[in-house]
Amino acid sequence: MSEIAVEVRGLVKSYEGGRIRALRGADLKVARGEFVALMGPSGCGKSTLLHVIAALDRPDAGHVHVMGVDTDAVRDLSAYRARTVGLVFQLHNLLPALTASENVQVPMFETGTGRRERRRRADDLLALVGLADRTHNRPGELSGGERQRVAIARALANDPPVLLADEPTGSLDSKAGGRVMDLIERLRTERGLTVLLVTHDPGVAARADRTVHMLDGRVLAPAAVPNVPLALPVMPS
Ligand SMILES: Nc1ncnc2c1ncn2[C@@H]1O[C@H](COP(=O)(O)OP(=O)(O)OP(=O)(O)O)[C@@H](O)[C@H]1O
Ligand SMILES: [Mg+2]
Repeated sequence: MSEIAVEVRGLVKSYEGGRIRALRGADLKVARGEFVALMGPSGCGKSTLLHVIAALDRPDAGHVHVMGVDTDAVRDLSAYRARTVGLVFQLHNLLPALTASENVQVPMFETGTGRRERRRRADDLLALVGLADRTHNRPGELSGGERQRVAIARALANDPPVLLADEPTGSLDSKAGGRVMDLIERLRTERGLTVLLVTHDPGVAARADRTVHMLDGRVLAPAAVPNVPLALPVMPS
């Protein structure tokens, strides 16, 4: 099997009849088990890139391979979304009328998991994210950090190999954000997850193996990354 978990080539995505060009030929490779931080100014296409990788959105051109599978060739996109990629949305998107446990179970309906198994797995996942005692609470009764941890548990509902997280700490204070990052790091170590995480926070990005930068719908080559001091040659005195 390929050592590359996610490969994106020449991805183009426009909205509003081409007026908005969210992706303009984005390329990216993420190795298996790698943790990559994705940074870039607001509107540069980060969320769009994650949504296309998660097959929530179709590109106009270009290719996405995840775990060796070309998403263009996937017949059952619901199964792909349920099993291969877990997505933590920029806004957590939990269903307000459902409890934490029920929210975590939602993706399991797609895989036909039985009721008892769904409940057991939801309990396990909520325990994993430190919410064993909040399984019956609804999102409105949880703090922002707790909601984000429920969203992570939901993203892992079917044990996907790849976790895509869109600013999972964006709305949290540094303490809650730190706990979410500790959790993501632990999951990555324990489960061998591949993680692609969008952040505006350099402190969060510093915890990744590698940071890639986007600008105007493209992923910048490492040499073109702005604001990164270049190693200057040592001048003889
Ligand atoms: N469904 C949509 N319809 C129209 N335009 C969209 C849609 N989704 C995104 N866009 C536009 O595409 C561009 C890229 O949006 P995207 O959400 O990917 O940016 P982003 O890098 O995630 O920004 P932020 O850091 O603010 O979350 C923006 O100009 C945005 O307004
Ligand atoms: Mg975004």
